[in-house]
Amino acid sequence: MTTRSLTWTDDLTLGIDDIDREHRGLMEVVNEILVACDSGLDSAMLGALFAQLRKSSLAHFAREERMLADTLQHRQEHAELIEQLDRIGAQAVREAEGGEVADATVIFLRHWLTSHIVGPDRGYSGYVKGREKRIRGGAE
Ligand SMILES: [Fe+2]
Ligand SMILES: [Fe+2]
Repeated sequence: MTTRSLTWTDDLTLGIDDIDREHRGLMEVVNEILVACDSGLDSAMLGALFAQLRKSSLAHFAREERMLADTLQHRQEHAELIEQLDRIGAQAVREAEGGEVADATVIFLRHWLTSHIVGPDRGYSGYVKGREKRIRGGAE
């Protein structure tokens, strides 16, 4: 593990178990990529890791969107995250082919996931938790 890897901090925990578990899983893949960038892993392997992150992210975003009735803005933010990931992934692979992934690319990736979790995801987590409680309350 390199110094540039992400570590889980309390402010990333939203209190919705399934979502928290998936966020941790996404962070693990991001960390694999960060390690790969630092260790100069070959570009094909790096591309495969980005493809894995894209697939896991799409599945995670779909789950989040199913949990909310009204998510247009959140949906758009997810679409933007995938676009950013495609751009940064292609850039990282290009840079790796040239010998080294640039610091700016690594820094962008470090913030890509966490800024969404502490921002939009935290924003809706209160709504989901409140709704779960009301649903449970109504069924009792
Ligand atoms: Fe999320
Ligand atoms: Fe989200």
